[in-house]
Amino acid sequence: MRTRTQVGIVGAGPAGLLLAHLLALRGIESLLIEARSRDYCEARQRAGVLESGSVAVLRDAGVASRLDREGLEHGGIYLQFDGHRQHIDFRDLADGRTVTVYAQTEVVKDLIARRLADDGEAAIQFSVTDTAVDSLDTDRPVLRYTDAAGTRHEVECDAIAGCDGFHGICRPAIPAGVLRTWERDYPYAWLGILADVPPSTDELIYAHHRNGFALHSLRSPAVSRLYLQVAPDEEIGNWPDDRIWAELSRRLELPGWALRRGPVLDKGVTPMRSFVSAPMRHGRLFLAGDAAHIVPPTGAKGLNLALADVAVLAPALDALLCGGDEQAAAAYSGTCLKRVWRSTHFSWWMTTMLHRTPGADDMDEQLQLSQLRYIVSSRAAATSLAENYTGLPVQPAAAGNLP
Ligand code: FAD
Ligand code: PHB
Repeated sequence: MRTRTQVGIVGAGPAGLLLAHLLALRGIESLLIEARSRDYCEARQRAGVLESGSVAVLRDAGVASRLDREGLEHGGIYLQFDGHRQHIDFRDLADGRTVTVYAQTEVVKDLIARRLADDGEAAIQFSVTDTAVDSLDTDRPVLRYTDAAGTRHEVECDAIAGCDGFHGICRPAIPAGVLRTWERDYPYAWLGILADVPPSTDELIYAHHRNGFALHSLRSPAVSRLYLQVAPDEEIGNWPDDRIWAELSRRLELPGWALRRGPVLDKGVTPMRSFVSAPMRHGRLFLAGDAAHIVPPTGAKGLNLALADVAVLAPALDALLCGGDEQAAAAYSGTCLKRVWRSTHFSWWMTTMLHRTPGADDMDEQLQLSQLRYIVSSRAAATSLAENYTGLPVQPAAAGNLP
């Protein structure tokens, strides 16, 4: 079946969903296709921390009413090392800036509900297969897919947004030699659990420990999210719930502070990788979010980068498709990559400072501990962490603002 739309969007993660909504607010029609089912997208456990800039983007777009009711505003984090836990006060250090704990699953649910309410069930095609993109260097790129009922579609677009994550098909569709990529794999992974137990802490705890990193995060006043550093090839089957809790307690507990335990609702292992590909545009294909870049989760940046990319992309596509103005589209990649590289550096820095690298010696450990002591004792060092963690303001691509 042959159809037409203004913007074909591949992937209903946070990037694709927010882009579809921002375009709709500008009166631009899009078709959003997604390989997974709606239930799967709404249940996939991932990020939990929104920068204040991300909250502002969602508020401006009119999709933050539940976020404003249920999100938990946090004014800092704890860094724990060498048997001590120290608070880093973002409000004090970073001009009152905060972050908000609101799960990615909830952002995705809110955006899906809004798209379907505004444009009907056909606005998002879930459970599609055999997605392909073509004719990217013409002004009529083509999106092909087979819908859940088995019908093959060919959609002529004015532009295509590749929001299909790290393992998607859009980035590989760019001809060889166009993209430059930078990549770093880390020799560890995170084992994450969602637990039906009230958090044992008021702020997130990032813990450096001889056995490896641990993180205590949360989802609500009743549900906790916790992570443990494990080997990159770790089998989740090797980690019965009792073993997970025992190891979390070992890495997080301090005299006078105990970790509350409860039923584990979900668990999984996530590899850690830094990856950047540039440019984020080829002809009429624009990459956004994890399709273009991945950061290890230690800095809580991936979801925020995905939202920031499409906040820049939506006005750029508006100018290109409705006014024939190329400038913002031409600036898209450069504008986003500045934020991407800042977050890539920050995530790498937090990761290497807090994790135990296999084969690392006592000297490496002392260097990490010295850096951590410096952060909690120097206002300048703590301010740098606070500014990076709470994030840069989100700015739409302004033509001519590139160096
Ligand atoms: P995705 O969410 O990956 O969405 C891409 C979508 O495209 C998927 O739904 C996929 O099914 C679909 N797709 C793929 N291929 C196709 C195809 N061929 N056709 C159609 N659809 C396709 N980030 C933070 O900011 N803060 C955090 O605290 C944080 N914690 C994290 C913790 C964990 C354990 C993990 C795994 C990640 C974390 N992140 C965090 C990162 C964050 O989750 C990602 O960066 C974010 O999901 C990126 O959004 P996206 O829309 O670009 O991609
Ligand atoms: C989470 O709550 O899932 C989370 C929080 C902070 C991180 C990573 C993940 O750095």
